[in-house]
Amino acid sequence: MSQPLTIADLKTRARRRVPKMFFDYADSGAWTEGTYRANEEDFSKIKLRQRVLVDMTNRSLATTMAGQDASMPVALAPTGLCGMQHADGEMLAAKAAEEFGVPFTLSTMSICSIEDVASVTSKPFWFQLYVMKDRDFINSLIDRAKAAKCSALVLTLDLQVLGQRHKDLRNGLSAPPKWTLHHGIQLATKPFWCLDMLRTKRRGFGNIVGHAKNVSDLSSLSSWTAEQFDPQLSWADVAWIKERWGGKLILKGILDEEDARAAAGTGADAIIVSNHGGRQLDGAKSSISMLPRIVDAVGDQIEVHVDGGIRSGQDVLKAVALGAKGTYIGRPYLYGLGAMGKPGVTTALEIIRKELDVTMALCGKRDIQTVDHSVLAEMPF
Ligand code: GLV
Repeated sequence: MSQPLTIADLKTRARRRVPKMFFDYADSGAWTEGTYRANEEDFSKIKLRQRVLVDMTNRSLATTMAGQDASMPVALAPTGLCGMQHADGEMLAAKAAEEFGVPFTLSTMSICSIEDVASVTSKPFWFQLYVMKDRDFINSLIDRAKAAKCSALVLTLDLQVLGQRHKDLRNGLSAPPKWTLHHGIQLATKPFWCLDMLRTKRRGFGNIVGHAKNVSDLSSLSSWTAEQFDPQLSWADVAWIKERWGGKLILKGILDEEDARAAAGTGADAIIVSNHGGRQLDGAKSSISMLPRIVDAVGDQIEVHVDGGIRSGQDVLKAVALGAKGTYIGRPYLYGLGAMGKPGVTTALEIIRKELDVTMALCGKRDIQTVDHSVLAEMPF
């Protein structure tokens, strides 16, 4: 098989290797998937400004995100069920990110636990928190993340009620898969995935099962989130979570200027402009189209990051040009992981780094820290 050159190549390979219900879980948006598509399409509307005869030597992509070093302005986003794209997926992805020098964010809804990831990494990773009604459990998750020396808490604000992804319902998504004919057929066609999965014991929600009270089976993500996630989460909760955590706090899921101002007022370290990869409010605007307005509203008070629709290093450059200090990739690294395990995550990061570096050079810049809207042909949004 030829060398994967694009994130789309990794996606094609992942589709071949990963059982349909887990591939589809990653490759879904809510309802019509309009916002999921808009996240990608709006990046392609942004045009770059070609410059010539400028010194292109000694280029640097190094930056910081929430005060932490990153070899390029890209972090691995928190993604649920990452360990179902490949056995021990979160541990493999965290190691790949550590070697590459970019932050890795572990989801609350991961398969490998906080402790599993800590056991294979030597640098701090980030932990993403979902807030459930059981506050004792939330406190214990925060304390476990502290004990594992996580260096930032990413608090997700946009998923107290789950957006409907039709594919997950049609596929009967569950982790681990069920002993049904429907799932059996999906698994039978993916023997390499199954063999890897048989070699690990990590096949359920590692942060939750055995830790939260009265939870032994949360295989059905949609019914479990509906029962357990706290729909009353408010700005006041952000205050106590910040206090209990006591470290760097990043608020994820801001898509509106008014919410951005409230988020800046909490004293958090950064916000992520995000519509949850188009998986929550279908019909919402794309993340990249909202970025400039949010940067205008709060960019002088708080660091602004963005996720949603990034499929190339060119997209990263465009996001930075529109004021993002950092970006996050979810699906691109999941496709790499599903396709090839840890080397696939590294390949996804390498593809993005190369595209970012060459694009920056051809726009006449040598240092990512100096990239601003002058690299754009016109302001698109
Ligand atoms: C969880 O974060 C999901 O989007 O499924």
